[in-house]
Amino acid sequence: MKRIEVWLFRWSVLSQCLVFIVLSCWVQQGMTETCIKLPEPAVHDGTALTETLAKRRSVRDYSGREISLEQLAQLLWSAQGINHPSGLRTAPSAGALYPLELLVVANRVAGLDAGVYRYRVGQHGLEPVARGNIHNRLEKAAMGQAWVSDSAAVLVITAIYERTTRKYGHRGKRYVHIEVGHAAQNMLLQAAALGLGAGMAGAFDDAAIAQLLALPASEHPLYLLPVGWPEDP
Ligand SMILES: Cc1cc2nc3c(=O)[nH]c(=O)nc-3n(C[C@H](O)[C@H](O)[C@H](O)COP(=O)(O)O)c2cc1C
Repeated sequence: MKRIEVWLFRWSVLSQCLVFIVLSCWVQQGMTETCIKLPEPAVHDGTALTETLAKRRSVRDYSGREISLEQLAQLLWSAQGINHPSGLRTAPSAGALYPLELLVVANRVAGLDAGVYRYRVGQHGLEPVARGNIHNRLEKAAMGQAWVSDSAAVLVITAIYERTTRKYGHRGKRYVHIEVGHAAQNMLLQAAALGLGAGMAGAFDDAAIAQLLALPASEHPLYLLPVGWPEDP
């Protein structure tokens, strides 16, 4: 290769790297501008796991009291938050491929407008998806289960199967379903530890939920986890 060609090649590689860095900074900045930063999770609250297990129960009667943003942040972190500098999370994931996504349908959360939000794991933040209270429509999509709309918030676990099946093929689907159980149980135990009541709904119309949450075609709703202060603590 002639000297000028080598120089041109180096210049083209360098300029491509520069474009990549500038673009990723721009995307990152855009994300943080639209992302609501959540309170940092408590990692040493002294709650004993055994006591939490002893009191975990499905709760379907909620008081009208708001839950706090700190509590919501803690619940999200327990289900999918980062707990290791390398980016590993509170719930295990086959091949650390993390096919799960978390959305919040907020109804009564102090300091958070009613609406739909997506949990951004990397930023430990919430990205607004849609404004307004959709709890009644959520109840309808959950086969009319009234207790779903009584909750302060509903955490929705969705999955992008492709993230796991790309590597593990058909068996990846099984892994995703196992992971939903891990994430949901973390969140249910966290709710019990916080003195909150949480339930779970697997009975719902997939298409109706996907439409309400504006999910892309590749993302599928798997589990609804309503949460609130229990009516009878
Ligand atoms: C996969 C799955 C789906 C469920 N779906 C619903 C549901 O749609 N509605 C509901 O009221 N409870 C639902 N439940 C909750 C069970 O009814 C509940 O766990 C069971 O009655 C035992 O009560 P416990 O959770 O208090 O121990 C579901 C539980 C699981 C594991």
